[in-house]
Amino acid sequence: MGWREEAKKRASMEAVKHVKDGFTIGLGSGSTVAYAIQEIGKRVQQEELRILGVPTSHQTMMLAVHWGIPTTTLNEHPQLDLAIDGTDQFDRQLNLIKGLGGALTREKIVASATSQFVVVADQTKLAEKLGTDCVVPVEVLPFAFPTATSKMQAIGGKTILRKAKSKVGPVVTDNGNFIVDVSFGEISSPKRLDSKLQAIPGVIETGLFIEMADIVYVGTQTTVERLERE
Ligand code: A5P
Repeated sequence: MGWREEAKKRASMEAVKHVKDGFTIGLGSGSTVAYAIQEIGKRVQQEELRILGVPTSHQTMMLAVHWGIPTTTLNEHPQLDLAIDGTDQFDRQLNLIKGLGGALTREKIVASATSQFVVVADQTKLAEKLGTDCVVPVEVLPFAFPTATSKMQAIGGKTILRKAKSKVGPVVTDNGNFIVDVSFGEISSPKRLDSKLQAIPGVIETGLFIEMADIVYVGTQTTVERLERE
């Protein structure tokens, strides 16, 4: 295992320490949080923890089933005790860019429904300014694709419709929508940009997670750093 995988795993182990008996937990998506899901599954078996998970994607649902974590939905549990998720980029204010895995909408809904939102990442995800070498994924209603993309371009974004790898045509999300990856370069005000994007008709959700993360565990080559939002 390379150092980055070790770092992701170390960060995930710290996050799982927040899991307590009786919790309902939002389960994020991606390769980093997959280590956390595995560890939660181990604890369910070994400590007989009575917990429930709310998966944010089909992939995570299958991981939860694989590791023996009982699942539920927001219908039964609209208020979560904890959510753990990865990120594609974060800054020192703990604002995030998420969605390279295409699960941003469910991830943001789950993050908005929890008492505590804990993020896991390796150190390569830290940026002084969000948007540096990182697109902002935006989930868009297919009907609105032409109009929404031209409005994104009008506010300074370079847009690319995300294409599928093993299928012709666009990626279709778990919600049946398209993903537009938008480059803005360094983002001076992530909050303002998020508001502008949210105001475009047909935009379902953006990958900008502003003032949502409470803690980010950052795996480095040798250790784990804990960053908290002030
Ligand atoms: C999924 O849509 C994303 O928001 C993921 O949380 C993000 O891409 C992190 O994935 P990795 O842990 O695989 O980098």
